[in-house]
Amino acid sequence: MSRHTTPGPPPATATLADLERRAADRAAPRHHDDDALIVCDRLVRIFSAEGVEVQALQGLDLLVRRGELTAIVGASGSGKSTLLTILAGLDTPSAGSATVAGYDLLAMDARTRLRYRRETVGFIWQRTSHNLLPYLSAVQNVALPMKLRGRGGPVRGRDRTRRALELLDLLGIADRRDHRPDQLSGGEQQRVAIAVALANNPSVVFADEPTGELDSTTAADVFAALRHANAELGTTILVVTHDNSVAGQVSRTVSIRDGRTSTETLRSTAHDEQGKTSTVSREYTTIDRSGRLQLPTEFTRPLDIRDRVLLELRPDHIEVRPGQDADTPDSPRDDAADSTRDDAADGTRDDAPEDTTDDTPDKD
Ligand SMILES: Nc1ncnc2c1ncn2[C@@H]1O[C@H](COP(=O)(O)OP(=O)(O)OP(=O)(O)O)[C@@H](O)[C@H]1O
Ligand SMILES: [Mg+2]
Repeated sequence: MSRHTTPGPPPATATLADLERRAADRAAPRHHDDDALIVCDRLVRIFSAEGVEVQALQGLDLLVRRGELTAIVGASGSGKSTLLTILAGLDTPSAGSATVAGYDLLAMDARTRLRYRRETVGFIWQRTSHNLLPYLSAVQNVALPMKLRGRGGPVRGRDRTRRALELLDLLGIADRRDHRPDQLSGGEQQRVAIAVALANNPSVVFADEPTGELDSTTAADVFAALRHANAELGTTILVVTHDNSVAGQVSRTVSIRDGRTSTETLRSTAHDEQGKTSTVSREYTTIDRSGRLQLPTEFTRPLDIRDRVLLELRPDHIEVRPGQDADTPDSPRDDAADSTRDDAADGTRDDAPEDTTDDTPDKD
């Protein structure tokens, strides 16, 4: 059975109407803050099972801009699926705030929630069998969400089939249009699932380990299809993955630890003097709106940092030093550090040090 390894280009004759609209939209100038599509602020989700409380999300902050393709990574149990199901409107948070495309996820009534799920988001599950109805062909599966939207939807009648075919073409599987899921490979099923998620032209697509059941080559094909959809349609995509090679292909990877965002890796393309291009990636520690950040244990353990630290403000960075034990008297060094900080805080400091070593905790 022949299989496309990469998704094809957008169809030459039948162009997706929204492809043009979104391209025009992208070209329009926007205010920086207007671009925020997903905003989570101190999001909390507590599960209670048999008298035991599990804090799956413990005050998670996240901002995703329109058009971004972001990977979410983290250990098993760190809260990735919990976050995605909340953002998709399938679960409600216990506290905090979450807004997606202007919808307040904590304040939606049942009717608004249904509309949000049908119109604003698309979802791709890890299990290929969860994404498609087994007795419908690929093209019928893609047309179904448009039918469910009914008359109020933007695509009617025969146009639904046309749009479904355009989406299958965009994802490189138009030749499988009449195959049922059991006649498709796992990778092909996931690419049809991407088309289903895109059917109603959502603002954002969430994907929870969409390549988790696939071998690495097929996973790369499916991920290429997701990237292609993001690049061509401008759809914002948030994808949870365990696969480092997949996470390495996006410009932003957010890492979740114990129900909070802990680090972020940003990747960009650099050109050297010979004109060679390479990808530069840098890991940043995230800092929440209250100024809290988590020091990585690989930094704190060698310095025996526990309980408390001394902070010193430098012209372009902050120094973090191990604090002394509570029963140890202050050392002269600590006095100096304190007075430096006091002076800096009231703006009277005149001993700006020469040392401007970059100690940002990036561990490339
Ligand atoms: N419905 C539930 N009831 C009770 N606890 C739950 C429920 N759903 C998730 N949890 C708990 O919340 C925590 C986060 O779970 P979550 O499924 O979000 O993790 P994850 O990061 O997606 O993990 P994985 O990589 O294994 O999929 C876990 O400790 C889990 O046991
Ligand atoms: Mg999960």
